[in-house]
Amino acid sequence: MRKVIIAGNWKMNKTTTEAIELANGLKRELYKIDDIGIVICPPFTAIDEVAEVVYESNIGLGAQNIHWEDAGAFTGEVSAPMIKELGCVYVILGHSERRQYFHETNETVDKKLKSALKHGLTPIVCVGESLEEREGGRTFDVIRDHVTNSLEGLTPEDAKKIIIAYEPVWAIGTGKTATPEQAQEVHAFIRGLLTELFGRETAEEITIQYGGSVKPGNIVELINQKDIDGALVGGASLDVKSFSEIVKNCSRKGA
Ligand code: 13P
Repeated sequence: MRKVIIAGNWKMNKTTTEAIELANGLKRELYKIDDIGIVICPPFTAIDEVAEVVYESNIGLGAQNIHWEDAGAFTGEVSAPMIKELGCVYVILGHSERRQYFHETNETVDKKLKSALKHGLTPIVCVGESLEEREGGRTFDVIRDHVTNSLEGLTPEDAKKIIIAYEPVWAIGTGKTATPEQAQEVHAFIRGLLTELFGRETAEEITIQYGGSVKPGNIVELINQKDIDGALVGGASLDVKSFSEIVKNCSRKGA
C-alpha cells in the first residue's frame, strides 16, 4: 500500500513571521493525523524557523528548489546540503513555474534529482502539460518526455525514493481541476512509464501526487482514484483551515 502524501507548496508566499504562524496553526490542527504523510515547503527564507516549529512533529519539511552542485560560484542559488542541514527531508524539483519562468529543463531537473538523492532528500519531481499541449493532443508525449528525461539514469533502487507530482499547467492556480478521470488517466500512464523504466515492483511503490487547484471539496474524489496517491497543493496550502481540511479529508480519522 502506498502512503498518501499531501504536500503544501507555499511558492513565493509568507514572510518568516507569517510562515511561523501558519506552521503553528497546522501543527495544532493536524497533530492527531498518523496515516497521512504531511509536508510543507516554505520559501527558503522561512525554512530555518519553520523547522523549529515542526521539529519532532508529524509534519515534514521541504524546499521548493535546489542547485545541482553542493557549493560554488552560483550567485543566488541554494544547495542540497544547505537545506538538509536546516531539517528539510523533501525538495520540489522541476515545478512548471520553474520550467516556464526560470528555464528549468529535464536535464537540470535530472541533475538536481541526483544531488537530492545523494544527500538523502526525497525529491518531488513535477511533470505536466500546458493547455496548448493538451488541446493539441500532445499530453502523453509531454508526460513521456518529462518522466523519461527528468529521471534519466536513475536506478530502480533510487526510483523507489522519489515522488512524482502530476500537475497539468492549465489547472494550476486557475480553479480548473482536472476531473478525477482525467487525472487518473495520466497517473496510470505515468505508472506505466515507471514500469517500463524500473519494473513493476518499483513502479507500484512510487507515490504519484496530483496538483492543480486541489481544495477540501475535491480532494476525496481525486484520492479515491487508483493511481492518485496524494496531492501537491498550492493556493489552498497557504491557509490553516483549507490545508488541514484537505489532509483530514484523506485521513480515516477525519476531523
Ligand atoms: P494551486 O493549488 O494553487 O493550483 O497550485 C498547484 C501547484 O502548483 C502546487 O505545486
